Amino acid sequence: MECQQHLFSLPPERHYLNGAYMSPQLKSVEAAGIAGLLRKNNPANFSAQDFFDQPEILRTLFAQLVHAAGPEEIALIPSASYGMAIVAKNLPARRGQNIVMAEQQFPSHVYPWMALCQEKGLSLKTAPMPQSSVARGRTWNQLLLDAIDDNTCMVALPQVHWSTGTRFDLAALSAKAHAVGALLVVDGTQSVGALPMDVRALGIDALVCAGYKWLMSPYGTGYAWLGPSFIAGQPLEENWINRANSEDFSRLVEYQPAYQAGARRFDVGERSNFIQVPMCIAALQQILDWGPANIQEYCHTLLAGFPEKWEQHGFLLDEPSHRASHLFGVSLPNHIALAILQERLQAAGISISVRGAFLRVSPNVYNNATDMEALTEVLTSFN
Ligand SMILES: Cc1ncc(COP(=O)(O)O)c(C=O)c1O
Repeated sequence: MECQQHLFSLPPERHYLNGAYMSPQLKSVEAAGIAGLLRKNNPANFSAQDFFDQPEILRTLFAQLVHAAGPEEIALIPSASYGMAIVAKNLPARRGQNIVMAEQQFPSHVYPWMALCQEKGLSLKTAPMPQSSVARGRTWNQLLLDAIDDNTCMVALPQVHWSTGTRFDLAALSAKAHAVGALLVVDGTQSVGALPMDVRALGIDALVCAGYKWLMSPYGTGYAWLGPSFIAGQPLEENWINRANSEDFSRLVEYQPAYQAGARRFDVGERSNFIQVPMCIAALQQILDWGPANIQEYCHTLLAGFPEKWEQHGFLLDEPSHRASHLFGVSLPNHIALAILQERLQAAGISISVRGAFLRVSPNVYNNATDMEALTEVLTSFN
């Protein structure tokens, strides 16, 4: 794949290596948003059918991206926390059971379990983050496997850790989880879109993603795939459009006990958002067109040779077998003051994030070798 910078409006003099913070906007997504905004100038533009057709297209696209069976398995949600709240509400769990997760997960994938533990008398078992980047991935995955026991009701993990970039071996973890009767619930916010995802092949029970990072969707959008353990559960809200026959606007007060089929019952209210849904459609169409495997390969090629140069200056990454190429944490050598490094990055026009003890570098298809060279110049400017 060639660099796709021409499809975005990034300022050419900046080096945006921060897709894990927020993706830049595709021009096609911008155009869809503007068209959606203008459409309401004349509300007669909206038919009843419009409330349903576009969300169905969006579900279908996300289903393709994660290899779901079809749109009926997808819920349209406003954030990762909303999706995790659906899981928390419907998780089968008994007093005394535990939830296994990794240390320093993103808060949206931790607070719901803390609350659930209080409510249901469960406990959290957290596999500590290995301090050394040498074999971090292997050690951490093993600690997680060891933490799963007969009392585990859920393993809650990302595919890629949001600050270290460590990859978790979801297939092995789901096999162990399922062997003890536990469910695997995955936060795909920092991977889906840039890394292939196959919910069935990996044995995932629920997958939740915020949309504004690797899925290039607007802020305030997200997607959830709900597997058989969750799909017939209780939604967080009882909104009218999620009920059977809501397509017939003339009969809405013939109140319906049944929901729309499948995961549609979990949709957030007003999910037909006429600005955001077309933007999300444009974004997912583009990502499917590129293909997550090609996006990952592009980032892999972009990275080639650079980690070795950084490592010579004491900046360490997870081992290649357990890191992704679109998001990775770089740990700093002791003698480097973070504030000075940040000043130099800023002066060089480089956007990356500091998360915990890591510099988080997160390239995508709009980046090129110049961006990586600019970063390398800063990292190797310390003696
Ligand atoms: C791993 C991960 N999950 C979720 C989110 C966003 O959560 P929410 O949609 O609840 O704001 C982020 C944001 O940085 C994240 O890194």
